[in-house]
Amino acid sequence: MIRPRRSCLAVPGSNPRFLEKAQGLPADQVFLDLEDACAPLAKEGARHAVVKALNEGDWGARTRVVRVNDWTTEWTYRDVITVVEGAGANLDCLMLPKVRNAEQVRALDLLLTQIERTMGLPVGRIGIEVQIEDARGLVEVDAIAAASPRLETLVFGPADFMASINMKSLVVGEQPPGYPADAYHYILMRILMAARANGLQAIDGPYLQIRDVPAFREVAGRAAALGFDGKWVLHPGQIEAANEIFSPTQEDYDHAELILDAYEYHTSAVGGAKGSAMLGDEMIDEASRKMALVIAGKGRAAGL
Ligand code: GLV
Ligand code: MG
Repeated sequence: MIRPRRSCLAVPGSNPRFLEKAQGLPADQVFLDLEDACAPLAKEGARHAVVKALNEGDWGARTRVVRVNDWTTEWTYRDVITVVEGAGANLDCLMLPKVRNAEQVRALDLLLTQIERTMGLPVGRIGIEVQIEDARGLVEVDAIAAASPRLETLVFGPADFMASINMKSLVVGEQPPGYPADAYHYILMRILMAARANGLQAIDGPYLQIRDVPAFREVAGRAAALGFDGKWVLHPGQIEAANEIFSPTQEDYDHAELILDAYEYHTSAVGGAKGSAMLGDEMIDEASRKMALVIAGKGRAAGL
């Protein structure tokens, strides 16, 4: 299922005030975090706080996700069991961080299936989002992206990724000084190709300079231009920017609808059953229709 994910809000699972506040923010997705935003000693308490927030909170139409800890820790199975047994009916996806191979996705899929069966939940409804956060994950990304029918998105994790490849920058998402081109181009494209080849969404990770909204817009704009579906947001100021940047402009949306109308008319029997058509000075064919469908789909989802 394709859910809107222009803005994916990170909410620390151990902070009741943020769990409350997030319910009033206009993000497409919230993910309640049990991983890096929760200290080791806070994890057990956070699991229960997350269950309570999912069951008792008012999340409206937002996609509800919980990020569990990665499989190399001792926490993952308890995260999954506590959250899905406690709030499986009020959860859309689990996010698995630091994924390095397809087996890690399959392991989560199997565990989810057992819990769904035990709890009488519909089997397969809870989706999986995976984070690609190191060189191994990127090299394995094609197999990872095909590992489970539960998969919905691939998410780039720039902070862990930059650390894993020794990139010479301490500002997450920023270009390393000394390299004249876009240091993220290959990584983002690699993830995007694996996602699209498997019918998944592609999401860009966090930008940590939360007060610098113009810089956020620039980084988000690059990912959006390539075709990414959305980006993490860490602060209310980033939400509005992400929702705008990952939606088509009104002008592009209107144009896309015109292309679809013109194409439908000219290829129909009434319009002459042609293979291509003119819209003003622009020639449109089946490929233009496909491009227009993408923009129109995103615009309709954004309520344009
Ligand atoms: C997110 O998890 C990141 O590492 O950037
Ligand atoms: Mg990370």
